[in-house]
Amino acid sequence: METNDKKTFYITTPIYYPSDKLHIGHTYCTVATDTMARYKRLQGYDVLFLTGTDEHGQKIEDKAKEAGVTPKQFVDNIVEGERGVLDLWKLMNISNDRFIRTTDDYHEHSVQKIFKKLYEKGDIYKGKYVGKYCKPCESFWTETQLVDGKCPDCGRPVVDAEEEAYFFRLSKYADRIQDLLENTDFLEPRSRVNEMVNNFIKPGLEDLCVSRTSFSWGVPVDFDPGHVVYVWIDALSNYINALGYENDKYHDFEKYWPADVHFVGKEIVRFHSIIWPAILMALDLPLPKKVYGHGWLLLDGGKMSKSKGNVVDPYVLAERYGVDALRYFLLREFPFGSDGNFSNEALINRINIDLANDLGNLLSRSVSMVEKYFGGTLPEEREADPLDDELISMISSLREKYDAQMEKYAFQNGLAEVFKVISRTNKYIDETAPWALGKDETKKARLATVLYNLLESLRVSASLLSPFMPESAAKIAEQIGATAEDVSYENAAKFGVLPKNVTVHKGATLFPRIDMQKELEELAAAQAAAHPQLPKYEGVAELIDIEHFGKVDLRVAQIKECEPIKRAKKLLKLQLDDGFEGGRQVVSGIAPWYKPEDLIGKKVVVVANLKPAKLCGEESCGMILATDVDDKTVKVLFVDDSIPNGSKLR
Ligand code: MSP
Repeated sequence: METNDKKTFYITTPIYYPSDKLHIGHTYCTVATDTMARYKRLQGYDVLFLTGTDEHGQKIEDKAKEAGVTPKQFVDNIVEGERGVLDLWKLMNISNDRFIRTTDDYHEHSVQKIFKKLYEKGDIYKGKYVGKYCKPCESFWTETQLVDGKCPDCGRPVVDAEEEAYFFRLSKYADRIQDLLENTDFLEPRSRVNEMVNNFIKPGLEDLCVSRTSFSWGVPVDFDPGHVVYVWIDALSNYINALGYENDKYHDFEKYWPADVHFVGKEIVRFHSIIWPAILMALDLPLPKKVYGHGWLLLDGGKMSKSKGNVVDPYVLAERYGVDALRYFLLREFPFGSDGNFSNEALINRINIDLANDLGNLLSRSVSMVEKYFGGTLPEEREADPLDDELISMISSLREKYDAQMEKYAFQNGLAEVFKVISRTNKYIDETAPWALGKDETKKARLATVLYNLLESLRVSASLLSPFMPESAAKIAEQIGATAEDVSYENAAKFGVLPKNVTVHKGATLFPRIDMQKELEELAAAQAAAHPQLPKYEGVAELIDIEHFGKVDLRVAQIKECEPIKRAKKLLKLQLDDGFEGGRQVVSGIAPWYKPEDLIGKKVVVVANLKPAKLCGEESCGMILATDVDDKTVKVLFVDDSIPNGSKLR
């Protein structure tokens, strides 16, 4: 295809919340999207593959506060920092063409324009929000949507919420959405259609709350400051903003929109198959051609989550087994549309059986035999045998079968087709016994034919495996002496493409075998070391690292003076000698438990770098450490008299 008449293919992943480091579940979706993007490029499409991060919202605002940084600093660290989102995608060989962050200026600009457009059109109006809110999911729910009074997505408790808010007239689009879902193949797998229609549309689509005033970390509504655009208009519109919709950063909206497919996890199918088309209808824009809702990777039957402490770190796996082995496993083991249980054992099994045994062995045996019997270059003489026919026909028809699966996003089955041919080729080696042919000088032409057939099988496999395992496919091609042209998409449907006198180049083993028992123990230890947990210390706050602790400046100080504060029964005003000239004044809520004379002369620990505050009009510069010994009693921590004032604790 010439560049100018190339057909376009626009594919997206969900934009990820950078509230924690990403885990294998996030990696799964991105690897699938990358594989589809590479497949379409292989086919000759002009592909635009978009991924990014969804950086606003209360959860991020809260987490940043906890970490003592601004929300932007917080997300920058997870997106751009060491082992952050960008690092992970680089490691996983993700070939995205664009990366959008919802904090990018151009995106925020577009979001404001879109919000205003919808408001002016009457599809957004001001009202009052009363309902339930799930903080971790940043989702509003109506009473009827709750499951056992809890968030239907994550099962966690919800809180009451009421505030002035803008609403999007989702209800207006209910009939059109129902028609879209039921009478087109917009949403796949089809099994997800019933769930959407029965659970959300039939009970009555309610208008959607699209602004918040209870937090500020979001895109401000420019015509009503105090409101920020609430998650879905901000997040969903990334798919068009990244093409330059209502901004000047990019200029290819006309070229790529509508998207060919949005890959999304099943819990956000609702947003993509109901809310997103409604927003687009309101904007008079074409709808994406397809939303594909994939399943979750589960761990021990449950969803992985950082807060449950059951995440699998993709870094650990990729570093131990190689990126391609991990990419292969993710797409070969689990049917894309359904949930699947992740296990280390399944991963190692796939590597050992499929990659080391079937594919790796086929490659190393084939190349070694060409070297051993022909010094690395096949002769041109051939001698065919009916024994070859089945293999040749399987190789020639492989691309068609593979395509049929790939077009349905059935990655697992696409790979299965390739591995059927690989297994058949290994069996062909046993049937033709090249080692026996090698002993007979009169069988050289036959031997060359057998070995050529092996190389051809590897060539076609390499080209069809390339979207899944780009680096390994390139290494296979190199070892069997195939050029880039030989492993093109066109040539993947043909037999007999390698030159008759092809020269092979033996290389390193692609996928070394793994000792299962030994590896399982070491892997568990490596995962645990990557994500330290304190499971037995229930109630202990989230883990921090030593640098965070180092930010708290704790000093020993002696109480020199102490007096009650008249207007506040609970407070005592303390003058401390903290080793610094002039000392400091601290106000502490310990009056119910201590009289001034009990305290004067005692040594305590003071948080020396706490921001000063005014308590009942009195300046308090730091706080002294104390603890609740029971519901009613507080005790101050006193320290040994022999420790000098001003000593720093560490
Ligand atoms: N920010 C939203 C998406 C907005 S798109 C306009 C979001 N982010 S997320 O980081 O929570 O999730 C991103 C994607 O990762 C979702 O599609 C989600 O389903 C997927 N996964 C997260 N954990 C997963 C598994 N354990 N398994 C498979 N995919 C999972 O949702």
